[in-house]
Amino acid sequence: MTEMLAPLYLWLKALHIIAVIAWMAGMLYLPRLFVYHCEVEPGTGEYDRFVLMEKRLMRIIVNPSMIAVWIFGILLAFAADAWGQPWLHAKLLFVVALSALHGMFSRWRRDFERSQNTHSRRFYRTVNEVPAVLMVLIVFLVVLKPF
Ligand code: HEM
Repeated sequence: MTEMLAPLYLWLKALHIIAVIAWMAGMLYLPRLFVYHCEVEPGTGEYDRFVLMEKRLMRIIVNPSMIAVWIFGILLAFAADAWGQPWLHAKLLFVVALSALHGMFSRWRRDFERSQNTHSRRFYRTVNEVPAVLMVLIVFLVVLKPF
């Protein structure tokens, strides 16, 4: 696998970074929408507009870019022959956490769609910080490769 993918290393890295940018944009914007959405009365036009914005953001940006990050990341790990390296194992731990958070966002989005949101503005404001913190840890790990 490594011999086959090594010549594509830079292409895969470029595609990986493009996908990461799109995923992070969505992962930072979606909880921000929840912060505003949770203060709007269900059944109003404004409420439904938030539902539509969240649904499109999830379907068009967040879901496809997460899949692309995983596909290009895995191919890149083969191309760079990086599977045995501890920094990658640590990075994967945080990427799994980011993916689990993605799953939670998906659930909360569906709760809003059914007018069954149970969380407060303060909750979403706090949750909004988590993808940023994970992203900083991941980028430090992959660029500095401290171990
Ligand atoms: C889904 C699982 C992922 C895998 C298997 C993976 C794997 C990799 C590998 C092997 C590299 C090449 C490192 C090198 O050769 O120097 C890389 C680069 C990179 N990854 Fe990931 N990655 C994943 C997800 C992510 C996520 C979620 C982020 C950010 C939030 C991210 C950010 C980056 C960045 C910025 C680079 C470029 C680093 C450089 O050029 O030195 N990756 N990734």
